[in-house]
Amino acid sequence: MNNSDEELNIINTVLGFCESGDTHLEPETMLNPVTHYTDPDRLNQEIETLFRKFPIIVGHAGQLKDAGQFFTHNDTGIPILVTRDKTGKVNAFVNVCRHRGAIVETEACGKANTFSCPYHGWTYGLDGNLRGLRQSEGFGRLEKASHGLVELPVFERFGLIWVRPSPAEETIDIEAWLAPMAEQLGSLNIESHTIYREWSLHRNMHWRIALEGFQENYHFCSAHQHTACSSYLDNQSIFLNKYPHFRHAVPISKISDLAEKGATPEDYRPNFMTQNYMFPCNFVQVMVDHVYVHTIIPTGQNTCVFKCMMLIPEPAVSEKAKKYWEANYNVVQKVFGEDFEIGESIQRGLSTGANTNFTFGRYEAGLQLAQTAMDDALEGKLSC
Ligand code: FES
Ligand SMILES: [Fe+2]
Repeated sequence: MNNSDEELNIINTVLGFCESGDTHLEPETMLNPVTHYTDPDRLNQEIETLFRKFPIIVGHAGQLKDAGQFFTHNDTGIPILVTRDKTGKVNAFVNVCRHRGAIVETEACGKANTFSCPYHGWTYGLDGNLRGLRQSEGFGRLEKASHGLVELPVFERFGLIWVRPSPAEETIDIEAWLAPMAEQLGSLNIESHTIYREWSLHRNMHWRIALEGFQENYHFCSAHQHTACSSYLDNQSIFLNKYPHFRHAVPISKISDLAEKGATPEDYRPNFMTQNYMFPCNFVQVMVDHVYVHTIIPTGQNTCVFKCMMLIPEPAVSEKAKKYWEANYNVVQKVFGEDFEIGESIQRGLSTGANTNFTFGRYEAGLQLAQTAMDDALEGKLSC
């Protein structure tokens, strides 16, 4: 089914649910053992598998518009340097010097011709090649060609930069990996958006708790009672399984107006917030007129970082535009903040023994879909 047909289908399914009083239900509930959040071995396994073998969104193409632009990413446990070289190619490297291991580029972003290690000044090109070492006679016949920065698989797709944070040899078929989401992501023109704000929040909760806050909307009218609740239909949404990813379409309250006039595919975007989950930790959250891209990454057993970019269709130049986007930014900060506060409260209760399992309800399809895909990956049944 193409994207337009899919979107028309989503609208009509929601309108049907509104009339019948139904909502999307998975066939069964699912139990998730609390040890999945508390067991250090499980977390290590998740890091080694989910955060080393699959692509993670690290930036937006706009951060690498020109040759020489670079940015760094420091949250996966593998320091990453991403560059655009003179040929226009995007490269990603382990940001670690091949001499004695210092972090080579310490700035968050910038423009450069070469990268010079702060420790002894070894210099690398935008393509990662070792260009020069001071007083090289002290290194015998050291082969420059085999002492370039270690490359990581990197892909520029749908205006986003995706990196697999491990230099392992297996290649990634990124087209096949993103194929289930390709038509929809392609239709958003993310590459022509600009970053209005970009931020990272370090929070005190296991990464899965933070992730789960974005995988169901059953919580909207309790956790977001005074904020998001009124904008959306209560506990009404469509989940499309695009294994190992999913599309979660949450209807805006005014969608019921379409019941009488009849819907066309053009009615989709103005009437939905879409939370697209790309395994293992990437979200492209599509609002009516802008987009949030976020990732959630473990930084410890009980800590994680939430990294978010707010993307707007064109730069905010006028005062009116600035005010408008700032208001949107403030609302989303508040709503995300409500999720994280509850997430941290879950973390505080994890070790009490009150629960041995968490119950993923039939409404909470996203939790079930992601859990299934993660179990598959951890058991070696899912790769990319
Ligand atoms: S560690 Fe980088 S030049 Fe020595
Ligand atoms: Fe929420």
